[in-house]
Amino acid sequence: TVAGARGAAAAMSVFVTRRIPAEGLRVLSQASGCRVQQWDSEEPVPRAELLAGVAGKRGLLCLLSDRIDREVLDAAGPDLKVISTLSVGFDHLALDEIKKRGIRVGYTPDVLTDATAELSVALLLSACRRLPEAAEQVKSGGWTTWKPLWMCGYGLSDSTVGIIGLGRIGQAVARRLKPFGVRKFLYTGSGPKPESAAEFGAEFVSLTRLAKESDFVVVTCALTPATQGMCNKDFFGRMKKTSVFVNTSRGAVVNQEDLYDALANGQIAAAGLDVTTPEPLPTDHPLLSLKNCVILPHIGSATYATRSTMAVLAANNLLAGLRGEPMPHELKL
Ligand code: NDP
Ligand code: DGY
Repeated sequence: TVAGARGAAAAMSVFVTRRIPAEGLRVLSQASGCRVQQWDSEEPVPRAELLAGVAGKRGLLCLLSDRIDREVLDAAGPDLKVISTLSVGFDHLALDEIKKRGIRVGYTPDVLTDATAELSVALLLSACRRLPEAAEQVKSGGWTTWKPLWMCGYGLSDSTVGIIGLGRIGQAVARRLKPFGVRKFLYTGSGPKPESAAEFGAEFVSLTRLAKESDFVVVTCALTPATQGMCNKDFFGRMKKTSVFVNTSRGAVVNQEDLYDALANGQIAAAGLDVTTPEPLPTDHPLLSLKNCVILPHIGSATYATRSTMAVLAANNLLAGLRGEPMPHELKL
């Protein structure tokens, strides 16, 4: 019947909120009966276009830059059955509302762990060995001769590394740092995880002890109400003056004013941030005036291969959800 045919088409109608790697879009467009509407741009979908685009759809493929809240869910209407995010982080999704409406959620864990851990190590080394600052000196003529006291930083040999959130990425960071000669790993989280920690002989400690004893602090936890603003004045005040702080989780885990003060006053040695609040960070932000702060534009998972794999996974999560099948990676609500 006409109504039946219309129902079948609606069953596979999806809105994609951005231009994504071609491999992912191909999975959707080749799926039988899947009708894709896309905000086909490198730039974020304007809110009004998001609200209009999602209306009446069964599926939504979104990004971490799209806030999926009650307004979006209302705009979508009761047909929305699946949300698939092209990210492992899900702090941009109003999970309570989503759960209430019986909507399933897919996400992209594991496939980006290696790329993000690699970037975390790159950022740590950039910050502790002052790479951007040193490279700038070469360009500006500041490099006049080899000087024994010039451009010194802090190395990983014999250091203590504290990981906030020893999850998938936190463990992958520890695995990569260990061969640099790290003496001791500490970690904190909602509780001890002896199985994950055994590989590194990592010790579960309080946040306070982690701040006090670590030469390097690496933040790889999820953003939750408990972790929001966790790295604040008190935290930085307990760190050593020679310590380096790295955040590749979410910007809101850090109180940026407190971090600025700690860096500007020499309370800590340096910081490396892949994530900030807001994103993008305004180009006149005080943190950007500091030589001892390396800031990257949220590129943790940005390898060609990883982004392509993430897109395919997000597409397959969406299709499986629409078909009522188990998703490759479903977020249990
Ligand atoms: P996991 O879920 O494997 O790890 C998250 C960790 O956060 C868990 O180990 C958890 O510890 C910890 N955590 C939760 N609550 C707290 C707390 N109160 N204090 C300290 N730690 C806590 O996720 P992934 O490792 O896959 O990803 C982690 C995060 O990294 C993502 O949520 C995302 O925000 C960010 N990310 C950033 C990227 C980038 O481009 N910069 C790329 C990919 C991810 P416990 O088990 O003890 O609760
Ligand atoms: C995520 O997946 O949560 C990252 O922030 C981007 O890959």
